[in-house]
Formats: sequence, C-alpha cells, structure tokens
Amino acid sequence: MDYRIPRGTYDILPENSGKWQYVKDVFRRVAESFGYFEITTPVFEMAELFERSSGENSDVVQKEMYRFMDQKGRSFALRPEGTAPVVRAYVENHMDKSGSRNKLYYMGPMFRYDRPQAGRYRQFYQYGIEFIGSNHPYYDAEVIAIEMAYLKALGLQNVRLEINSVGCASCAKEYDLALQDYYRQFLPELCPDCQKRYETKPRRLLDCKVKTCQVFRTDAPSQLDYLDEDCREHFTQVRAYLDASGIKYLVNPAIVRGLDYYTNTAFELIVDALGAQKSIAGGGRYNALISQIGGKDTPAIGFAGGFERLLLALEKESIPLPGITLPKVYCIAIGDEAQMSMLPILSKLRQSGIYADYNPDKTSFKAQMKAADSSRAEFAIILGEDELKQGDFILKNLMTSEQERLSAEDLLQRLTQ
Ligand code: HAM
Repeated sequence: MDYRIPRGTYDILPENSGKWQYVKDVFRRVAESFGYFEITTPVFEMAELFERSSGENSDVVQKEMYRFMDQKGRSFALRPEGTAPVVRAYVENHMDKSGSRNKLYYMGPMFRYDRPQAGRYRQFYQYGIEFIGSNHPYYDAEVIAIEMAYLKALGLQNVRLEINSVGCASCAKEYDLALQDYYRQFLPELCPDCQKRYETKPRRLLDCKVKTCQVFRTDAPSQLDYLDEDCREHFTQVRAYLDASGIKYLVNPAIVRGLDYYTNTAFELIVDALGAQKSIAGGGRYNALISQIGGKDTPAIGFAGGFERLLLALEKESIPLPGITLPKVYCIAIGDEAQMSMLPILSKLRQSGIYADYNPDKTSFKAQMKAADSSRAEFAIILGEDELKQGDFILKNLMTSEQERLSAEDLLQRLTQ
C-alpha cells in the first residue's frame, strides 16, 4: 500500500471505539456533576496565541508546534493544548458576562511534534477542565477533586497526586535568580538544552530528563522557600481544602510544568507503571494568562489529562473496559418473500434503539445461522416458508437454544420490553 498513517498518530478502530466512548462518557458525567459546561474550540488557532501563552521559549512553542501558513500568508498552529483556546473563547465571547458559564470542560485532539514513544503521540486526545474567575483556594481543590472523582469512577487505583506552588511572577523571579546562583558552578556540565534553560527559564533545569543534569537537582533551592506571604498562605489553604476533601497528595517542589502560564498551584497525576510518560494529567493556576491575552485581569485554574495514557494505566490494572457492541438480534430470512417481510420487523426494532443485524448476501439457512452465531447476538429471529404461511416468526435464544413461535406484535413486545 502506498499510503501510511503519519508517524505518532493512530487509528481508533471499531474494536477500540467502545472504550474510548466509555472514558469520554464518564468524564462528561463527572464534570457535569460538578456543574461544568462543555466548550468546543477549533483545532487550529493563530500561532501567536500559543507563542504568547505557552511562552516563546517553551518546548511546546520552540520544538513541538505544528505551524502552517494559510492561503493569505497568516500564521496558524494546530493546537498543542486546550487552555489558551478556551481562554481566547472566554474573552472573545465575553463569557464573564454570562453568569455561571465560567466552569468549562473540553475533550479533543491536540498536536505536538515530539519523538513518538509509548504514551507520547503527535496527535493525542485530552480531556480538560478550566475554572475561570476566582483565586479562592477552594477552586484549586475543586478542579483536583474532579480529576480524582474521574479516576475513582474509572476504578484506577495506583495513581499519585503531586502538588507544588510555583508562586506569582515576583516569587518566580526571585526563585529563578536563586537557581541561576546555584547552577552557575555546574554550567559546563549541563546538557546543551539546560545551558539554554539556564538563561531563558531556569526552573526548567529541574525538569531535565538527562541523567547527568538530574544529579544537581537534589541540592537545588526549593521554590517553596521563595514564596511570598500571600502565595505561601494560598498554598497552605489549598492543602487545607484538599485535606478536608479527603484527597491525598504529596508535595513535590520539583513540579515546574512545561508551559509558561502557571502561577501558584501546580499539580500532576503520576502513574509509575507507565514509565517515561507517567504523567497522566497535569495542571495548575494561571492567574495572569487572561489579561496577558487581552482580557480583564482574572484568576483561573485548570488541568488536562491524556486519554491515551489513561487507557494505558487502566489496562495495566486490568480494569475491564467495554469492547465492541454486540447485536441483540440477528434476523434470518429464507427466500425472497421472507426477506421482504423481515424488513418491517428490522426497521421497528432499530426504531426502538435495538441493535438488530441482517445480511442479505447470505441466503441459505445454514449460512445465516452460522452468521447469527458468530455475531454473538442474544437472539435470532427466523422467518422461513412455514412461518410466512402461518404469519408468525421464530424467536430463538442463541445462548440457551430455546425457541418459540410468536406473532409480529408479540415478538416486538418481547424484544423491546
Ligand atoms: P500538559 O501537562 O502539557 O498540560 O498536558 C496534559 C496531559 O496531556 C499530560 O499529563 C499527558 O497526559 C497528556 N499529553 C501531553 N502531551 C502528550 C503527548 N505528546 N502524547 C500523549 N499525551 C500527552 C496542558 O496541556 C495544560 N493545558 C493543562 C492545563 C489546563 N493547565 C491548566 N489548565
């Protein structure tokens, strides 16, 4: 074959669609139980939206963004993440004026050009939450509680919540200086990326995956020692709300997050069994983002998770997930006249929402019975010459092989009750 799927992408084939639908449905149900409304934004936006929000020097913008020019030479990007688009929609649609529409959830594909590996794709699907409009620490705990409730509803056990506070812009500035002070002595030993990070974003030094850089992390100064009074108090309150909600967590001062817009609370959900790509969800506050992209100064917090990593984590724990939907009924008609007489039954069953299968290419009784068995339907409806004459049908339970003769009316009643 001449055509292949692009590297880092995958097809969701019918046998896998059931589990995808299921994890999406459960997320929707959980988010709505917390009073969140769905928002859907385009898969591409002005490239500048992400450059400004994620940060010019972030990996996402520097290395991973799928940029393209349209016919008029305007620069767009496939969205690498969902927060900036949601904030753009919030500001553009004056959603601050529409009452409670500031609790938002979304699901959809995101695009990042990165080296593909297990749990890391170039097109991946996120689910996310954004709460816009309050700095109250209750909401930090609320968005975390949504993710925890979601994972609980799915039955995932081995997952750890790690939290940190990255402070406000002025705390971050002081902390960056402290990190530069500390790392200066190791500069020649750092990897080329970290040498750049030292200048542009010292906090990302803590996040480097290169082993020889990681050794310096142990004695590096902690962000938590560089929080001002307000930021420290906010973090204390967030922890108090998490404690009161019965949510267990680990404080990890090394959580820095890859996108530039974070302030104060930052968190990640870790599933160790996933290896290198073990963060199944992450998020935090972004109190400066809305004003940065042209809205009013408005605090906000949110998170996003990756469905692929979530499904891998569920599979690692052998949690059963829905497979392909099986037909309830398989219709067998023998002869041309029976075929035509079967159609009204077939259509009435389908109108009642029953998955009823039928294959006109198979004509002999034997072939149709074999097809019914391999379809794994619960029942077969059989219409042969004899039944046609009598004006009734045979309903066969394919699990027990019991069968009975019924009128069309009784048959429909039996199957739809
Ligand atoms: P993020 O940490 O970049 O945050 O991504 C969130 C989640 O998306 C990750 O924890 C991971 O599960 C999944 N993910 C990211 N990249 C990939 C990839 N290449 N392949 C598969 N899965 C991936 C954000 O995107 C923020 N917008 C989250 C947020 C919302 N912060 C505040 N509100």
